[in-house]
Amino acid sequence: MSITDNYQKLARKISSARRVTVLTGAGVSAASGIPTFRGSDGLWKNYKPEELAHINAFMNDPITVWKWYDWRRGLIAGAGPNRAHTVIADWGRKLPGFSLITQNVDDLHDRAGTQNIIKLHGSIWRMECVNRCPPSKGGWRNEDVPLKEMPPLCPYCHRLARPGVVLFGEALDPAILSAAGDASECDVFITIGTSSVVYPAAGLLSLAKEKGAFTAEINPDATPASGIVDIAIAEGAVEALSEIDALL
Ligand code: OAD
Repeated sequence: MSITDNYQKLARKISSARRVTVLTGAGVSAASGIPTFRGSDGLWKNYKPEELAHINAFMNDPITVWKWYDWRRGLIAGAGPNRAHTVIADWGRKLPGFSLITQNVDDLHDRAGTQNIIKLHGSIWRMECVNRCPPSKGGWRNEDVPLKEMPPLCPYCHRLARPGVVLFGEALDPAILSAAGDASECDVFITIGTSSVVYPAAGLLSLAKEKGAFTAEINPDATPASGIVDIAIAEGAVEALSEIDALL
């Protein structure tokens, strides 16, 4: 099938679906100028994301890990949502039973106007107390760019603060994972801009397929998901979502 046939087929599936679920990864924010994790531009001082964004790396050397997050926060603060984010926000308003699950911590989907986002990996603008001191329960928002102190400290107990994101070596919040599982029981499941190598996020596609969803991937590069989905669209998120949206 040509790419145009694939756009038309996916648009028809979306139009007739009762529940559409989209799962996004860093590729959706690439057009906003935010480097992906596994692209060559995403490497920071030659660290692999699994090594740097790991709970053990953070506990051993919080300043280095915080400097990486400070760099990313600076890039994100200077960026804005792109057309892929705004099309997804528009689908949230116009498609009944629409859900967005994201692995992104940049909050660009929120800034584009999507509501009720299932955020698997948290937000880069939140912090938590490493010692979970009772007054800090639930964490707090911090939008300082650059960070005012290195490493940042808990404003309540003045001990070490940590990024309010899920690090490698840590479990996802069970309630959020359960919400993502529920959202994966849908008619159409579209995975966009993710390398589909980080679990449990990467497993949601297979779950959706098992439950009978029509599945699609939007990613300029082939991933482990490409051979699983019903339609693999080898295009950037902005281009593909603009084309599909125009057909709805
Ligand atoms: P990755 O960096 O692993 O993958 C980004 C994907 O986006 C790649 O497959 C690219 O081919 C694709 N891509 C690049 N440009 C694109 C574009 N313009 N349109 C669409 N796709 C494009 O990022 P994630 O899959 O999001 O977790 O990474 C998953 C998790 O690993 C992240 O949430 C983060 C990371 O380490 C934690 O930090 C826990």
